[in-house]
Amino acid sequence: MELLYEGKAKRIYRTEREGEFLVSYKDSATAFNGEKKTEITGKGRLNNEISVLIFEKLKEAGIANHLIRKVSETEQLVEEVTIIPLEVVVRNTVAGSMAKRLGIKEGTPIPEPIVEFYYKDDALGDPLITESHIKLLNAATPEQTEELKTKALKVNDVLIPYFAERNVRLIDFKLEFGLRKDGTILLADEISPDTCRLWDKETNEKFDKDVFRRDLGSLTEAYEEILKRLGGPAHV
Ligand code: C5P
Repeated sequence: MELLYEGKAKRIYRTEREGEFLVSYKDSATAFNGEKKTEITGKGRLNNEISVLIFEKLKEAGIANHLIRKVSETEQLVEEVTIIPLEVVVRNTVAGSMAKRLGIKEGTPIPEPIVEFYYKDDALGDPLITESHIKLLNAATPEQTEELKTKALKVNDVLIPYFAERNVRLIDFKLEFGLRKDGTILLADEISPDTCRLWDKETNEKFDKDVFRRDLGSLTEAYEEILKRLGGPAHV
C-alpha cells in the first residue's frame, strides 16, 4: 500500500478502494512538539482500540465521523478527508497550557465549556489563534469555524456522560476535522488518551498522556485502565 503520510503517532496508507484510507497507529510517544520522544510497546494498539470505541459511540449518538471500521489491533479503515489545519480544543476543567497561560490552578472547574483553536503548524509550534486569525490564514471560513465549534461542543455533550458513567472525568480534549470532496465537514483524526485529559472521578489520578509528559508512571497501565473502563477487548 502507498504510504501517504507519516505523523508522530500514525501512518496513513491509501487502500485499493477509492475514498478509503488505512490508519496504522504507531508505538511512538512524543510530547512538547516532538522534543520528548520514546517508543512504548503496546501504545499503538491501545490508542487504536480506544479511538475506535469512542468514534463508534459518537456515531451511535448521531455525530458523523471518518471511522469505517477497525481492521486489526493497531489499524482502522477511515473515510478520506482533507484535514482542516486547526486543532479544536474543548475544556471543561482548567489544565495544561490553559492553567499556565492564564495562571489559573489546574483542576479549577470551567462553568461553560471553552472552545479554543490552534493553528496546525509544527514550525510555529501550533499557536493558539482567534477566529479572525483563522479567517486571515484562510484555514476555514467563518461559517466553517462556527460549525467546528458547534460540532466540538456536541462531541463534548456525548463524551462527558460516556466517561462519567465509567468513573472518568473528561477534563479537556483536542479534535481535528476534515473536508470531504463535496465540501462537508467530518470529524476525523483520533480521540484517545493521547488527545484527551482523563482523570479518575474519585482520586483525580491521570489516565492520559500527562503520565508521559510529566513522568508520572506507566503510560500503558494508564491507557489499559481507560480501555478496560470503556469495555474494550483484551489483548490477543
Ligand atoms: O496542552 P493543552 O493543555 O493545550 O492541551 C489541551 C488538550 O488538547 C489536551 O487534552 C491535550 O492532550 C490535547 N492536545 C493534543 N494535541 C496537541 C495539543 C493538545 O491532543 N497538539
